[in-house]
Amino acid sequence: MARLSLRKLSVICLCISAFLFLVITFQVVEELGQFDDTPVRWEAQGTSDLLTGDRIAGSSERRYPVIVWWSPLTGEQGRLGECGSHRCFFTVNRSYHAHPSTEAFLFYGTDLHVESLPLPRHERHQWALFHEESPKNNYKLFHEPVVTLFNHTATFSRHSHLPLVTQYLESLDALTSHAHLVPLAQKNRLRASGLAPVVYVQSDCDPPSDRDVYVAKLMRHIPVDSYGQCLHNRDLPAHLRDSTAMDDQGFYHVLSRYKFILAFENAVCDDYITEKLWRPLKLGVVPVYYGAPNVPHWLPSNRSAVVVDPAAPPERLAEYLRRLDENDEEYLTYLQWKYKREVTNEVLVSEMEHRPWGVQDLTQSNYIDVFECMVCNRVWENINRRKQGLKSKTWQAQADHLRCPRPRLFDFDVGPVEGPSLRNIWRPSYDQSIKEAQALRRLVVKNKNFTMAQFWKEVFRF
Ligand SMILES: *[C@@H]1O[C@H](CO)[C@@H](O)[C@H](O)[C@H]1NC(C)=O
Ligand SMILES: *[C@@H]1O[C@H](CO)[C@@H](O)[C@H](O)[C@H]1NC(C)=O
Ligand SMILES: *[C@@H]1O[C@H](CO)[C@@H](O)[C@H](O)[C@H]1NC(C)=O
Ligand SMILES: *[C@@H]1O[C@H](CO)[C@@H](O)[C@H](O)[C@H]1NC(C)=O
Repeated sequence: MARLSLRKLSVICLCISAFLFLVITFQVVEELGQFDDTPVRWEAQGTSDLLTGDRIAGSSERRYPVIVWWSPLTGEQGRLGECGSHRCFFTVNRSYHAHPSTEAFLFYGTDLHVESLPLPRHERHQWALFHEESPKNNYKLFHEPVVTLFNHTATFSRHSHLPLVTQYLESLDALTSHAHLVPLAQKNRLRASGLAPVVYVQSDCDPPSDRDVYVAKLMRHIPVDSYGQCLHNRDLPAHLRDSTAMDDQGFYHVLSRYKFILAFENAVCDDYITEKLWRPLKLGVVPVYYGAPNVPHWLPSNRSAVVVDPAAPPERLAEYLRRLDENDEEYLTYLQWKYKREVTNEVLVSEMEHRPWGVQDLTQSNYIDVFECMVCNRVWENINRRKQGLKSKTWQAQADHLRCPRPRLFDFDVGPVEGPSLRNIWRPSYDQSIKEAQALRRLVVKNKNFTMAQFWKEVFRF
């Protein structure tokens, strides 16, 4: 009985809060709608800078700055976001482009389409870029002429305003956990019964890092069980075959029996580190890592991964892994941090303690919310400065907020590549993206809306 009424109560509470939310949202939309009727008056004010602050902040607290998600990442038509003591109205509705209360635009890198940018860009319009993904998803963003169009960034780079380097790591506890650790004696028994020392699971074949060519060569010198579509030579149990099973306990069980996991990123850029690195560390398998050249900066200890040197031949790596495979004592030096549950890298410890967002953690904000609030708070900072008659503060993204060098191909021969290969498109596509970035900047600086045809004309003008 008590439980029933508790349930009833929570349903009622839920209804009330949903109702309140709707009321507030509608009210805000309505208020903003009223604003819509007077854009000209806004623009026409001689001292618009001062007035902007007054009208948005208004003593009645009825007006809020509008922040438009130009990429519809959140899908929200309108939401009043609370960011500490500040509030901003977030919307994906592009008709707010010219709205006098609109102060900032948020872009999601992968969805940034050149032909539809919020141009003209008003002097007060701040642009913010969120891009946590691999450069392979939108190369033209990765060049100075485009990166510097933005005021605020949240990217995988440690230099960005909101660095997402550890976006795939939920906690240090997950890293030091022994939940999946398979004792070395058992790994050795599995080896004796024919399990390879090394495992590879990759189904996104021939990405810019050219990892499959390296791995193909490596496989000739040391046994590698390859369960993914790339270089496939072993099948996963049927229930683990789709990509959603990558975080399945059963899949962890398959991987944790190996001594080494090939953790090769799809692109090679500083700070671009994914679950490919963290997963083996969590499982207690030694990652053989190829990706971010600065990975030692982020590893839990100074001996926790075998870092691939792309300039050395794969034979040499195979030789080294064989040596570790045959020498328990040496192999275990790579797991000492794990057995001691000791993360000695102060940089990683500090990052995990201080990052203002969580991963799969309902008690913490997610990084999208934190990104939105970073922009909201900066918008308010300028509103308040204008109110006090101070000069606006400026923020500017720098080239190193999103950077990745030209992809390199391994030059050793692995024989004819089967089937269609993307291998040869990455470099021309990167080179082309430099021209696109320059063209995009020239067009944005002109501050006029442009079509795709005009964009391509600009790209090929030089
Ligand atoms: C977008 O906002 C405008 C007012 O600025 C409103 O008229 C329109 O209905 C909104 N669109 C959607 C899909 O909510
Ligand atoms: C690695 O870290 C350990 C423990 O923090 C330290 O004693 C050792 O000197 C370090 N080795 C190198 C090569 O930096
Ligand atoms: C935003 O960036 C643009 C382009 O670099 C710059 O002109 C503008 O002053 C910046 N605005 C703020 C508020 O930082
Ligand atoms: C900019 O151009 C695109 C198509 O080229 C069009 O859909 C959009 O409405 C234009 N925006 C403005 C603000 O004129």
